[in-house]
Amino acid sequence: MELRHLRYFVTVVEEQSFTKAAEKLFIAQPPLSRQIQNLETELGTLLFERGSRPLKPTAVGHFFYQQAVKLLSSAEQLKSITMREGVIKRTLTIGFGGSLLYGLLPRVVYLFRQQQPYLKINMIRMNAMEQVEALKEGRIDASFGRVRISDPLIKRILLREEPLMMAVHASHALAQKKQGVKLEEIVDENLLLYPNRPKPSFSTQMKGLFSEYGLEPKNLTLVDDIHLALGLVAAGEGLCIVPESAKTIQFKHLEYIPILDDAAVSPVFLIIRNAEDNEYIRSLFDSVYQVYDLEAIKYDRQIF
Ligand code: BEZ
Repeated sequence: MELRHLRYFVTVVEEQSFTKAAEKLFIAQPPLSRQIQNLETELGTLLFERGSRPLKPTAVGHFFYQQAVKLLSSAEQLKSITMREGVIKRTLTIGFGGSLLYGLLPRVVYLFRQQQPYLKINMIRMNAMEQVEALKEGRIDASFGRVRISDPLIKRILLREEPLMMAVHASHALAQKKQGVKLEEIVDENLLLYPNRPKPSFSTQMKGLFSEYGLEPKNLTLVDDIHLALGLVAAGEGLCIVPESAKTIQFKHLEYIPILDDAAVSPVFLIIRNAEDNEYIRSLFDSVYQVYDLEAIKYDRQIF
């Protein structure tokens, strides 16, 4: 006895006719009648009263009908629960450079979660080199970062160029220049750059930015991370260059001033494997651009 035999039997009982049941089941009547007879033979009992019009189940047939309905409904439930479990188990693991947490990353990932409720999303903080290795080894599926690292197996998609700002203590003379400062005005200050390792990193990008303008900062201090750098600025130890989105990090007496040079920007990349063709990554892209639209941030949409 198979589930389809139960389905045939239940339909015949509900339609009270072999002809109507056969139509509903899209099968011919003779094979349907044969299947019910086989069922009766297997069970060793009559399931329908012979000659009844409309067709009526026997008392045993009625009992069998009730049990069959329960069984078919459990089978349906089992199928749908298992299918849902399968969907929930899909996972997307996203790497990210730590400082992006202070910008738009939380909003992008939160929106993405709302749009992909059955996807399990893991997030792992990683430096630039770790992101590339993890992508190549399949430990992550996508990552957000700022550093240009080239690798034949990896594709970097530029999301936007984020303006840079100078963080300065409110009592410093440069804090008065609310309209902005040029790099040449800060090159001789004590500059706190982060992170101090590994390379390449945001700090190597900042050194490169000065040299693009023929400038060489003499008083550089490399520190662990953005928090330490900004905390030390708030303690009056020097200045620091940060992406605009870091303005969300607040310390008493800490001010953020725009940097006016055209090249004073930091790229934000979405990094994926070269051969990637994943519907969820396409959806992750959409979430990024939706947040940009909400925040009125300019971007050139890249095709993926
Ligand atoms: C952004 O600041 O543009 C950004 C940061 C993380 C993920 C996506 C975008």
